[in-house]
Amino acid sequence: MSDHKGFTSSFGAIAAAVGSAVGLGNIWRFPYICGQYGGGAFLLVYLCFVFGIGMMLMITEFVIGRHTGKTPVKAYEAMSPKHRGWRYAGLLGMVACFLILSLYLVISGWTANYVFDSARGALTGLDGDALERYFNVFSRSAVRPVLFIAVFLLLVALVIMGGVQKGIERVSKILMPVLVVLLLILCVRSATLPGAAKGFEYLFSVDFSKLTSEGVLAALGQSLFSLSVGMGTMIVYGSYIPKDDNLLRTSVWITVCDTLIAVLAGVAIFPAVFANGLSPDGGPGLVFKVLPVVFNSMNPAEGVPVGTVFAVVFFVLLVIAALTSAISLLETLVAWRSEEKPHHRVRYTVILSLGVFVLATVLSLSNGVLDGKIVGKFNLFDLADHINSVYLPPIGALLTVVFLGWVANKNDIKDELSNHGSIAIPWYGIFIFIIRYVAPVALLMVLVTGIISGIEN
Ligand code: PHE
Repeated sequence: MSDHKGFTSSFGAIAAAVGSAVGLGNIWRFPYICGQYGGGAFLLVYLCFVFGIGMMLMITEFVIGRHTGKTPVKAYEAMSPKHRGWRYAGLLGMVACFLILSLYLVISGWTANYVFDSARGALTGLDGDALERYFNVFSRSAVRPVLFIAVFLLLVALVIMGGVQKGIERVSKILMPVLVVLLLILCVRSATLPGAAKGFEYLFSVDFSKLTSEGVLAALGQSLFSLSVGMGTMIVYGSYIPKDDNLLRTSVWITVCDTLIAVLAGVAIFPAVFANGLSPDGGPGLVFKVLPVVFNSMNPAEGVPVGTVFAVVFFVLLVIAALTSAISLLETLVAWRSEEKPHHRVRYTVILSLGVFVLATVLSLSNGVLDGKIVGKFNLFDLADHINSVYLPPIGALLTVVFLGWVANKNDIKDELSNHGSIAIPWYGIFIFIIRYVAPVALLMVLVTGIISGIEN
């Protein structure tokens, strides 16, 4: 049905999906929330969620996508023609993609700026206070962040215009291995610094007293975000997966890679932070304000500024991670709009890119010139971030599992998972049990708690 426009190989499919999954969520967000909620204890809970629920959601989205060969809105309809209302679940995913992409672009633009400024030495030699000031001035200014959003988005759009095979698949097959190599270089450097052991302790020692119920919910939310599920992205990528690929095996690969890369990002960051006697709880600013201090401390008084080289390597890594994730978000939107008119792919890429660019610009300006001027005392950026992390992904995920678990035809699911009976699926019963009962209850809990804490604050 969709084979001609899909990925050409299993490796290509896995590389593209890993590209979507591995993003700012792994390298920017995971390390700091892991540290915040008790390191090893958080990691254990996270592992349970990522394999027990997140991966099941990924399989769910792959089944819907590959079975129908369609994008979310139409896929729900095609899978259950009698229940037309489900297409609104698909539509909600599209709204979520648009919003997340806009936010994602703002932070991706920052990372692109940091590549540029570390490479030209603008950050070299600055101390902690100066770096903090640098970040604040930069992120609140009107022009520079927007310029970098534009540059980054242009790269994303060009890949999408290249198409699924010649754009997305090809770029992912090159960039993912590069990302792993860069990350390993940083890990080796960080882990061998004197005093690094404390960082490992922080990341891996299991201290359940720091793991609050908030931490448990954060682990579930993070597992969804990190695997790119709940927004229909994996439905679209699922529709590109070769028909004879084993969906379980593909999903296990993606989940393992995504989780390993998140943990490695922690290894690249915390030992180096501790080795420099810096505070690990820098929160969202950890990467932009604290890490540059670490890199500067690696620069010798004379000779090659190795610290600056490591800084460039790190921010390039972050740009690559963000790029392939942003590609999957824009692809979801473009695939949806151009579903019936594939020859208009370029046109829709341009239109949608302009749309997200406008929203990303407003979000970026809301950190500076527009601060507090849009929704009363709220900063629009924080508001969008809140909606985006607390409501949309869990709602989307909940609808997806309820649809497959309770609405869709079981024979269709079995057929898709077993490649029409050609592979055994002894785990089918567990899968159905999880998506019918376990996942909906867990997702409802995240949602309700998120809403309550949102009201309280
Ligand atoms: N998984 C990506 C990350 O970890 C974010 C993402 C979410 C990408 C949803 C696509 C869809 O950063």
